[in-house]
Amino acid sequence: MEKTANQSILPISAKINDKGNLEIGGCDVIELAQKYDTPLYVYDEATIKSICNSYKTAFEKYKNFQPMFASKAFMTKYMCKLMQKEGFGLDVVSGGELYTAIKSGFDMSKIVFNGNNKSIDELEMALDNNIGRISVDNFLELALLDNLAKSKNKNIDIFLRITPGIECHTHEYIQTGHLDSKFGFDLTQLDEAVELVKEQYTSLNIKGLHAHIGSQIFETQVYYDVVEVILKEMARIKEKHSIELQEMNIGGGLGITYTENDTPPSINEIAEVILDSLESNSKKYGINSPKLYIEPGRSIVGTAGATIYTVGSSKQVPNGKKYVALDGGMSDNPRPSMYQAIYTAVVADKVHSDDKEIVTLAGKHCESGDIIIKDIELPKLEEGDIVCVFNTGAYGYSMSSNYNRVLKPCAVTVQNGQSSVIIKRETYDELISHDVIPDYLS
Ligand SMILES: Cc1ncc(COP(=O)(O)O)c(C=O)c1O
Repeated sequence: MEKTANQSILPISAKINDKGNLEIGGCDVIELAQKYDTPLYVYDEATIKSICNSYKTAFEKYKNFQPMFASKAFMTKYMCKLMQKEGFGLDVVSGGELYTAIKSGFDMSKIVFNGNNKSIDELEMALDNNIGRISVDNFLELALLDNLAKSKNKNIDIFLRITPGIECHTHEYIQTGHLDSKFGFDLTQLDEAVELVKEQYTSLNIKGLHAHIGSQIFETQVYYDVVEVILKEMARIKEKHSIELQEMNIGGGLGITYTENDTPPSINEIAEVILDSLESNSKKYGINSPKLYIEPGRSIVGTAGATIYTVGSSKQVPNGKKYVALDGGMSDNPRPSMYQAIYTAVVADKVHSDDKEIVTLAGKHCESGDIIIKDIELPKLEEGDIVCVFNTGAYGYSMSSNYNRVLKPCAVTVQNGQSSVIIKRETYDELISHDVIPDYLS
C-alpha cells in the first residue's frame, strides 16, 4: 500500500542542497538559523498539505466524512487558516484554543469542543459563537450546558464522549480509551446520560458518540474495534431509548515515525480498517451508516515540524558520556522528559561527515532530566554547529513553557524556498509583562 508522510522521519521536502547543507521547503537550514536565530521551529507546509490530502483521499469513498485537526498538537492562527483551506474542521479543548480559532475567522460550525472539565466561561464562549458540536464528557457538564443553553434560548448539538474500553499499546499517559480513564462516560453510565438528555436536558440534542483511544498508535485493529463499540452503542440506544444517532467521532491517534524503530501504519491502512468496520458493523447492528468525524493531531503536524538549535558547551564525563548542550530543551520540547520520547537529529552543515561520535544532546535547563536525545551517533560537534531535531511539529510548541524564564522560540513555515514567520520569538519585555509587584513592596 502507498506510504504516507507519517511513515517518514523527515519532512517530505527535506534534502541536502548544493552546499551540502540540510534544506527544508527549499530553505537552507543554516540560513534559517542565521536569519531567525535559534531555537527555531520550522514547519514544512508541503508535508502538512500532503498529510491532509492523504486523509481526504483515503476516506474519499465515504461521502459522509469530516476530518478535523486536533489543534492541541499545534495551535496558531496560521494552522487555523491552513486547516480551513484544506477543508478540515478543528477539535479544540480550551477557551484559548477556541479563542484562537475565533480570531482567525474559522468556520465555527466545523469546530468540536472536547475536554473533561470545561468551565462555564468556556462553554459560554462556545455557545455565544455558535460552535458546531460540544463533546460532553460527564454528568456535571450535561447539567451546566443545558442550564446555560436554556438561559440563552439555544439548542445545542452534542456528542457524548464515551470510554470505549479499548487498550492500545502506547505510553500510559497518552492512552485514553481504556476503562480506567479520566475521559468520558463509562459505557455503564451512558443510558443514564441519554435518559437525562431525553427527559430533563431538553436544550441538548445528541448527534452522536465520541471516543478517542490514545495517541502515537501503531495498531490498526483498535480502529476497527472503536468503530464497532460505537456502532453497537448506537444500536442499543436506538433500541432502548428510540433515539437514532447520526454521527460518530472516533478521535485521532495515528502514530508517526520519530525513529527507525517506529512503524506506524499508513493513513490508507487505517482508513481501510475504519471503513471496513463501518460497513460490516453497520450491517451487523442494523444501523444506517453515520457521519464519520476523525480528529488527528500528531499525524497532521508532527512530521512537518523540526527544531533547529545551536550547539554550545560540552562536557566529557571521565569514562562516561559526552554531553553536548543545545540552546533550548525541555521548555521548547518537554516530550523527552515527560514521556521518554526519542527523536532523530542531524547536524545541518555536516550531514555527510564520517567523523562521528556518540553524544547525549542536553538542553540548557536546570534539570538533569533535560535531555533532548540520549546516546545519538552524530558527526563531531563544535560550538556554533546547527543541530536539526526532526518530528517536533506536534506537542512541542503547544506544550512549551517558560521554565527558567527561557523565551519561547520563533516558528516559521517554509515552502518553495520562502520562509514566513508564524509565531514571533518572545521578548524579555513580553516575558515580564504579566508580573505585578504588589504595592507594599514598591
Ligand atoms: C479527544 C482527542 N482527540 C484527538 C486527539 C489527537 O490525538 P493525536 O494527536 O494522537 O492524533 C487527542 C489527543 O490526545 C484527543 O484527546
